[in-house]
Amino acid sequence: MDRNDSSAAHAPQRDAATQVLTANAREIERAAELLRSGHLVALPTETVYGLGADARQGSAVAAIFAAKNRPRFNPLICHVADLAAAERIAVFDAQAQALAEAFWPGPLTLVLPRRAGCGLSDLVSAGLETVALRVPAHPLAQSLLAAFDGPIAAPSANLSGTVSPTSAAHVLDGLRGRIAAVLDGGACPVGVESTIIGWEEGRARLLRPGGVSLEQVQEILGQPIERGTEGGAISAPGQLRSHYAPRAALRLNAQVPEESEAWLDFGASHAHDGPSIDLSPRGDLHEAAAALFGALRALDGERARIAVAPIPLEGLGLAINDRLSRAAAPRPDDKRPEALSPDDKGEAP
Ligand code: TXA
Ligand code: MG
Repeated sequence: MDRNDSSAAHAPQRDAATQVLTANAREIERAAELLRSGHLVALPTETVYGLGADARQGSAVAAIFAAKNRPRFNPLICHVADLAAAERIAVFDAQAQALAEAFWPGPLTLVLPRRAGCGLSDLVSAGLETVALRVPAHPLAQSLLAAFDGPIAAPSANLSGTVSPTSAAHVLDGLRGRIAAVLDGGACPVGVESTIIGWEEGRARLLRPGGVSLEQVQEILGQPIERGTEGGAISAPGQLRSHYAPRAALRLNAQVPEESEAWLDFGASHAHDGPSIDLSPRGDLHEAAAALFGALRALDGERARIAVAPIPLEGLGLAINDRLSRAAAPRPDDKRPEALSPDDKGEAP
């Protein structure tokens, strides 16, 4: 994305330079100060880097959409320090309570009814009566939440439609000059976004597979759960079919790469002479998830197409396959009507 394009020029937030802050008390306080004054700060979480803003300041939340070039106002995840802070914002029933106790802090997001007077900007939940909440486990995210002492709204810290960032360098690739600062916490250990659970007619639903496996969630709830619609009735970024897209085309479930392709392998399934990365030679899905977005970035541009080995559909493999199929889907800049999913054609909420 060209920083000189007109949408960037209209962004309300045009910080000339993006500061890179590190993990010491003074710089964490600086990051908290920037958030308080309505600026955007990218922060590491255990899943991916988030683009943070004070969730109580509407103009700061709006600046997130501008910085990301996000096409419309989708609801964002609100990050809080602990369950007590989450309970001041939303209403927890017994199932939500059990999931929070089992997986927080960690890569799980719960979509719950907002409390009246919770103080969040309406833009955080895009006008819905529910709010997506998560307590991140990353120590730097925790330190920033403690220093800031308030809720931080944060989608992934990338330009809309591009691969999610799992390092501070990835954040700067997309957002340098568009945000005030990035807090550098190194590589994200989980590497795919949080699992999102919501409730429809009182039943728990998987709204997005992610860093906590479906099996783990079902074990806590003691029952199988079905897929629901991310964002409820309205469209969500995860529903844009092409949401995690590299520039190269992707060919999924490939047994053998073609000579002209780059190769994204799993479990050392096949050797390749061309550019190639194995997400986990020993076939470990956690290791593969952590490596996924970085590998897509690294192979992008090496060849016009990336062949991807089959990844098992279990545990974190569900989230990995979900992100890969989105990356392989028709692109938002592909204007042919047949290339657009019904959601892409939908109206903003
Ligand atoms: O791991 C993560 O979840 C990362 C890190 C930064 O925490 N965040 C992230 O945020 O992936 P974002 O904005 O890229 O994704 C937010 C997702 C969207 O799919 C959105 O539709 C869903 O959460 N969501 C948010 N609020 C919702 C609501 N009230 N109802 C249904 N879905 C909601
Ligand atoms: Mg995202």
